[in-house]
Amino acid sequence: MSQNDYIYLYAEKKANRFNMYCLLAMCFLAFLSLILNEVGIFTQDKAITRFSMFGLITTDIIPFLIFIIHDKILKKEKSVLEMPFFKVLIIIFSYFSIIDICIVFSFQAVLLLAIPPLFAAQYKTKRSVFLVLLTITLLSIPFVTYASYFYGIYDANLLKPLTQEEANDVVYGIQNRLNIATPKRMLEVFFHYVLPRMVCISVIDFIAIIINGRTSNMIFEQVKLNDKVNEEIRKKSEMQKSVIEDLADIIESRDIETGEHIKRTKKYVTILVDVMKNNDKYKDILTDKYCDNIINAAPLHDIGKIVVSDLILCKPGKLTDEEFDKMKIHTTKGGDIIKNILKDLGDEDFLNVAYDIATFHHEKWNGKGYPQNLAGTDIPLPARIMAIADVFDALVAERVYKKPMPVDKAINIIIEDAGTHFDPNLVEIFKTVEDKFIEVSKE
Ligand SMILES: [Fe+2]
Repeated sequence: MSQNDYIYLYAEKKANRFNMYCLLAMCFLAFLSLILNEVGIFTQDKAITRFSMFGLITTDIIPFLIFIIHDKILKKEKSVLEMPFFKVLIIIFSYFSIIDICIVFSFQAVLLLAIPPLFAAQYKTKRSVFLVLLTITLLSIPFVTYASYFYGIYDANLLKPLTQEEANDVVYGIQNRLNIATPKRMLEVFFHYVLPRMVCISVIDFIAIIINGRTSNMIFEQVKLNDKVNEEIRKKSEMQKSVIEDLADIIESRDIETGEHIKRTKKYVTILVDVMKNNDKYKDILTDKYCDNIINAAPLHDIGKIVVSDLILCKPGKLTDEEFDKMKIHTTKGGDIIKNILKDLGDEDFLNVAYDIATFHHEKWNGKGYPQNLAGTDIPLPARIMAIADVFDALVAERVYKKPMPVDKAINIIIEDAGTHFDPNLVEIFKTVEDKFIEVSKE
């Protein structure tokens, strides 16, 4: 699913959740009215109120029950709030319960018919859907008004010519109401009660269409902004990738390291980072972006070697103290080069990780490394990871000045140097992925 679809879905889910709780609130109010009527605080006809409120409670609680069973009890992966049928269900049920209220509590409640379109206004809905909703609402108004007239609770305005006793008489109630339903009275009801309410509801529906337009616009703007940000990120990472590739080419073309060393160390770093991000100790620090930065910056760890003379880099024998001092500056020089080249790329996080890796990958856990004699966790984490990858590859690979070392021996050296050269926690992680290191070393 694209990020944009996700934004739409999130908005719909939010609307579904809100509307579902609105129905639940209506269900609670219906239950409360029923209780108040039963204890005699309200004085509506008990039989009608029981029947209708029970209907309303049942209808309005269904979406919530579906949600509880589907999402909480069965724990289905895809929430019911994300399913298209659910919003239709909510709007239909809101009509049912409101028509129920309108009939029971007399035609005065007809204005409540504005609620379903307001529910619908929160979804990504087409204008044509609103025309359908407006039609349903306008047809419902005369229906509930005349239904109240013939079957509803006594209303002194609507049933003017009758007394409450005549209207509610158990045997003759409906007959009495039919007797006064002359065409004149029916027209009067239409012009004085139905028509003004139709006009009023149309205005409210019109407002619902405006609210819906505003909601859709807001979501659309968010999607547009999201596209723009993604495009920027894509461009930046393309640029970053090409700069890293160019720099790696420079290292290769100067014969400082072989391309294979660069590729293998990146793979070792990837192996370590992949395990670490699922490890309790590191999972909060190692976000996806941070992991990508470490992996992508790994090939640049020895970039500073371009300032070191070939005579030292390619010397077949052991370096003199003076030569070794010159070799050591590849760390600080590497940091400087990275800062100068990457500073305009606008990705400060990547720059910092690449800087730390280039500058500190020769520091040791016991503080006896270089260039700054940092110790323990003062050494940045990416550099501690790089140290293991770099040393392991240096041991098992062939160099101008040495033969390759057997992998078992190299693994033992890394393990023995936990707490002196390497971060002991990282060596523990290294032990769990030895096999993967061996695999890469054989490629
Ligand atoms: Fe190095």
